[in-house]
Amino acid sequence: MLMSPAMLWLLLSSLLAVAVVTIPCFAAAAADTAPPYANHTVGGAAGWFFNATANASATNYSAWAATQSFYLGDYLIFNTNANSTVVQTSNETAYQLCDASGGDDGDGGGGDDTFFFSGGGGGRGGGAEEAVAVPLTVEGALYYFSDDDDGIQCARGMRFAVAVARGRGLPPALAAPPPPPPPSAAPPPPYTAAGTSQGERFYNGAGRLGLGLGFWGSVAGVGVVAAMVIGAV
Ligand SMILES: *[C@@H]1O[C@H](CO)[C@@H](O)[C@H](O)[C@H]1NC(C)=O
Ligand SMILES: *[C@@H]1O[C@H](CO)[C@@H](O)[C@H](O)[C@H]1NC(C)=O
Ligand SMILES: *[C@@H]1O[C@H](CO)[C@@H](O)[C@H](O)[C@H]1NC(C)=O
Ligand SMILES: *[C@@H]1O[C@H](CO)[C@@H](O)[C@H](O)[C@H]1NC(C)=O
Ligand SMILES: *[C@@H]1O[C@H](CO)[C@@H](O)[C@H](O)[C@H]1NC(C)=O
Ligand SMILES: *[C@@H]1O[C@H](CO)[C@@H](O)[C@H](O)[C@H]1NC(C)=O
Repeated sequence: MLMSPAMLWLLLSSLLAVAVVTIPCFAAAAADTAPPYANHTVGGAAGWFFNATANASATNYSAWAATQSFYLGDYLIFNTNANSTVVQTSNETAYQLCDASGGDDGDGGGGDDTFFFSGGGGGRGGGAEEAVAVPLTVEGALYYFSDDDDGIQCARGMRFAVAVARGRGLPPALAAPPPPPPPSAAPPPPYTAAGTSQGERFYNGAGRLGLGLGFWGSVAGVGVVAAMVIGAV
């Protein structure tokens, strides 16, 4: 039996409606049970500092991290000064070696997944205290350390690992809509909310790519269903 174009359209749009209605329902159910977004003040009251006199980190950051649960959309708040840095990497080897040489603008070392975050300070060797806010925008293992004093701060305890769970997923402010289809894709505008680091721009770009793939993936999925329906009739 041949299906008329009108019938086919009706079938396809009802399939699409089921997908559009049910997927957000499941997502909402998961989000309801996930904890609200939280900000984690790194090291608690001790902050993100190195005590040069004691040649030691201000606190045990691994012990601090073990007391926290981290989710997408949470922020790490580093209360620090320009005597220390905030380096994020997903390269465990770079973290173990306290090696930030592959950061943002370098090649080699930690590689393309190593980023520097900084507040307004910039310079090294003193400076006013500042809060550096780092959004957690990717799931899985992330590593943080200070690479100042040629890695001594890191080697002497200024480092920790976190495991980022999905939770509620990225909030709209950190997520992004799907990009236009290629080949007309334009580069995404730089992300300009709290913080201005390369890392945030990169991760938001990555988030956009992921959402885009998801979106066009579901378009492709509907196409496959359509092909199956057409094949079946
Ligand atoms: C967490 O920190 C970010 C960046 O400073 C801020 O925009 C956000 O409002 C804070 N959220 C909470 C729940 O305090
Ligand atoms: C740094 O360490 C020294 C020696 O252990 C200690 O006396 C001092 O109070 C520490 N400074 C801070 C800011 O914790
Ligand atoms: C601090 O400890 C490191 C070893 O981790 C050592 O190389 C360095 O000389 C020490 N610095 C001071 C000021 O004692
Ligand atoms: C810091 O805490 C971790 C986890 O609690 C522990 O394994 C480690 O030995 C501590 N480091 C120091 C230098 O006390
Ligand atoms: C991870 O870091 C190590 C040490 O810095 C480096 O040799 C390696 O190439 C990095 N891996 C990736 C995938 O960037
Ligand atoms: C920052 O480093 C300078 C030089 O090493 C030192 O004099 C100053 O006390 C440090 N400040 C803090 C808050 O650790």
